[in-house]
Amino acid sequence: MSVAQLTLDPAYAIAPVDPRLFGSFVEHMGRCVYTGVFEPGHPEADADGLRADVLNLVRELGVTTVRYPGGNFVSNYRWEDGVGPAGDRPTRLDLAWRSIESNAFGLNEFMRWATAAGVEPMMAVNLGTRGIEAATALVEYCNLPEGTAASELRRAHGVAKPHDVRLWCLGNEMDGPWQIGRLTAREYGRLAARAGQAMKRVDPSIELVACGSSNADMPTFAAWEATVLEEAYDQVDYISLHTYYDPEKHDEASFRASAVDLDGFVEDVIATADHVRAKLRRKKRINLSLDEWNVWYQSRFTEPEDRGIERTPALIEDDYDVTDAMVVGNLLISMLRHADRLTVGCQAQLVNVIAPIRTRAAGPAWRQTIFHPFAQTARLARGTVLRTAITAPLMSTGRFGDVPVVDAVATHDQETGALVVFVVNRGTEEVRLELDLRAFPNHRPAEHLALADDDTTAINTADAPTRVVPTKTAGGTTVTLPPISWHALTFEEKL
Ligand code: AHR
Repeated sequence: MSVAQLTLDPAYAIAPVDPRLFGSFVEHMGRCVYTGVFEPGHPEADADGLRADVLNLVRELGVTTVRYPGGNFVSNYRWEDGVGPAGDRPTRLDLAWRSIESNAFGLNEFMRWATAAGVEPMMAVNLGTRGIEAATALVEYCNLPEGTAASELRRAHGVAKPHDVRLWCLGNEMDGPWQIGRLTAREYGRLAARAGQAMKRVDPSIELVACGSSNADMPTFAAWEATVLEEAYDQVDYISLHTYYDPEKHDEASFRASAVDLDGFVEDVIATADHVRAKLRRKKRINLSLDEWNVWYQSRFTEPEDRGIERTPALIEDDYDVTDAMVVGNLLISMLRHADRLTVGCQAQLVNVIAPIRTRAAGPAWRQTIFHPFAQTARLARGTVLRTAITAPLMSTGRFGDVPVVDAVATHDQETGALVVFVVNRGTEEVRLELDLRAFPNHRPAEHLALADDDTTAINTADAPTRVVPTKTAGGTTVTLPPISWHALTFEEKL
């Protein structure tokens, strides 16, 4: 059996764990909202139509921040359509997904859901078909207590207290040819700066996310970020990153090593943001918001133009297997490794649409395989992120050359003493992992949580919702990592 060695030291500190790294995303797309989080008449729905079974799973997933209402959807959305008496709301054609939008679920329903789920809302404004006026009115509606037209409108809608939304996205993927109202980098940068300035006049305490590239393969990647930040550096606080990994796009080993790509993407965006900082001679640093990431079988996607117009179509309801779960766990390791600059993360999406939680209309909700590494990482990652020093056998990949089969990061909670090592084996052979904890002399092994299966293509379904679940065994400083597996090794401090 091949062997990997991992050394930990409290001196290898990266940054505190920001809870916002464990965010998610609810878009009006497919069945994420309708028959996902919201299904009046479902046996589990409350008086507001919010599904309690889904809410319970969202809490168990440990999601902290949820981005809403899109995504591509936001770029042709009128937020006013989704507030006020339900019977007065218009039915619209959503151009992003060519779906019928009833507007039965809107801003105030989302805020009610967010409160019930215990998550922080992260709102996006429409900079595709709309602009500064609609964006500032939305901030006013959400955040001002009273005494202005928009805040009084909210009060008239039965919401006395402001929603007090801190995090705002200035549009979505504005570089994408598919985006309604797509702009050039210069056009978007100027609009983001002006919209951002006006939105901060309404509420100076909000934090703004400018759109970065839709993905690192966009032909304008990096030049887009540089231009946008040249225009909007002073107004914004974050630049966004979006990335999806398709198991069928490259060789299988490259897919298993997707976190290598994420590491490089994040580091390139940091370098670009810091280049603009130097050029503009600013002190402030721009942080990163990875506000869409996941595994997505994108090559199976049907373009909106190639589908008919439907109400609540089942869009991109990918089934995730054990390999996908390992990759999701590894992407979370990569995110934690960059916790000094990457401080917001939203897995896309939360329910049904490329999601950890699935539902059947009128039926039960269940956890996909990718639910498990997310839930355990969100639950266990506390305190300070620690870099790990790893020596591991290499695996060969088409995209990245030779990469270590084992990848890991650790967190150390100084208050409780808890030390957790998150590890993946992304190779196809068993590996023995030896941990060197000499720098933690008072720590003893506690638990070893693992997600692994002899059949790495196994999935969970409505009929077999617990086919793939994590196992819990006694921990150790030497552990066996089965092929294609995810692990959390916990250690307790005994003084
Ligand atoms: O998450 C699905 C879609 O992917 C989002 O609407 C869009 O922003 C991205 O291209």
